[in-house]
Amino acid sequence: MPDSTKNATLSIDGNSWDLPIYSPTAGPDVIDIRKLYAQAGVFTYDPGYTSTASCDSTITFIDGDKGELLHRGYPIDQLASKSHYLEVCYLLLYGELPSAQQLETFEGTITRHTMLHEQMVNFFRGFRRDAHPMAIMVGVVGAMSAFYHDSTDISDPHQREIASHRLIAKMPTIAAWAYKYSVGQPFVYPRNDLSYAANFLHMCFAVPAEEYVVDPILARAMDRIFTLHADHEQNASTSTVRLASSSGANPFACIAAGIACLWGPAHGGANQACLEMLKEIGSPERIPEFIARAKDKNDPFRLMGFGHRVYKNFDPRAKVMKQSADEVLDLMGIENNPVLATAKELEKQALADPYFTEKKLFPNVDFYSGIILEAMGFPTSMFTPIFALSRTVGWVSQWKEMLNDPQNKIGRPRQLYLGNTARDYSDIETR
Ligand code: SDX
Repeated sequence: MPDSTKNATLSIDGNSWDLPIYSPTAGPDVIDIRKLYAQAGVFTYDPGYTSTASCDSTITFIDGDKGELLHRGYPIDQLASKSHYLEVCYLLLYGELPSAQQLETFEGTITRHTMLHEQMVNFFRGFRRDAHPMAIMVGVVGAMSAFYHDSTDISDPHQREIASHRLIAKMPTIAAWAYKYSVGQPFVYPRNDLSYAANFLHMCFAVPAEEYVVDPILARAMDRIFTLHADHEQNASTSTVRLASSSGANPFACIAAGIACLWGPAHGGANQACLEMLKEIGSPERIPEFIARAKDKNDPFRLMGFGHRVYKNFDPRAKVMKQSADEVLDLMGIENNPVLATAKELEKQALADPYFTEKKLFPNVDFYSGIILEAMGFPTSMFTPIFALSRTVGWVSQWKEMLNDPQNKIGRPRQLYLGNTARDYSDIETR
């Protein structure tokens, strides 16, 4: 923690208290309220934690006004164009870009942890055929604590390291097998001669009946999607992982909790919801009707893929994703994709509408990702599992950082209680 540079003074009913203020390397100052309740007997009130720093971190920084996203200081657009997902995983986990030797060792380790314990196959078969792949991922990842018990001792740094590598390595296999199970095709085992992204595409789309060669442009686009979703400060699912971990739960249980939170349509489920919305709109001609609904306070409909809790200018990931969408659709010869045409026209009309510009509602990371994934052949039900696969390194990195933080303690928010004060039980005869 940095030293306090100045104090804030809180005055209530003639009493006042000095609260230390810390200055970060980037972003707003923070007021330390850890002693507030003990000193002043009051809580702060911040539903949704819109003005609350839950921890200190050195992993990712977002400037919502500038549309800036840094991973260990490196801008996301540079990482998306010059790096690749496993190198970004190393950066997030260890804080620095790897040397050639460090990267080779790390990639070798991840590559050789991609297989699942063979008995875990039975978990997939226990689900209904039409189970959502996210339901399967939550279940199978949580079950990993039963199969990899040796890496559940969070007090052992070496076991924490192995658990981190196992989660990053096995998530593509789990996601791919959830997909294969949902389409009734046999599981395809990971291959050590393929890159991380190519291996995932091969496990998803290869069939025993014929050779499947991964198109390098699709592998590059897949890798870029992984990179763009890798980590994002203390978002809802990362905060869920941190809160679960604060009780001392094992890493697999914590990541399963993060997957469950990411599933929501306001969070990681937005990419599936966005593509379903674009298909419901159907053509550029119907866009005004949906924009009107999004603006109607009496209609719960929102433009999925628009808006963000932090970005109030533009989501830098959406800019890179839009470029990838054009590349992939050109490759697939579907540059006339009606869904992409609708998406581009929707973005244009929404950004010309004062409702969206005044509320600073711009396309987010989920707006274009679904278009790329559909062009690759994924069903919408696989969009959020791919987000979960990508975000695993972010969850794991934040989990490791939290366990190494000497200030780490169990999370336990308080409340503004508005219920009944104490009252005596009344017998049913008197009610
Ligand atoms: C992700 O936190 C992260 O970092 C998340 C993420 C990550 O990488 O982890 O970036 C991934 O979750 C991206 C967001 C994906 N979600 C969606 O695309 C779903 C649609 N977006 C909305 O649900 C919403 O914008 C949120 C949840 C993303 C953000 O909500 P906020 O910041 O809490 O804003 P709000 O709900 O308080 O809305 C502010 C105003 C409201 O109107 P008023 O009450 O002020 O009149 O903006 C309106 C809202 O009604 N509004 C929208 C809107 N989003 C907000 N109106 C229409 N369409 C929308 N999409």
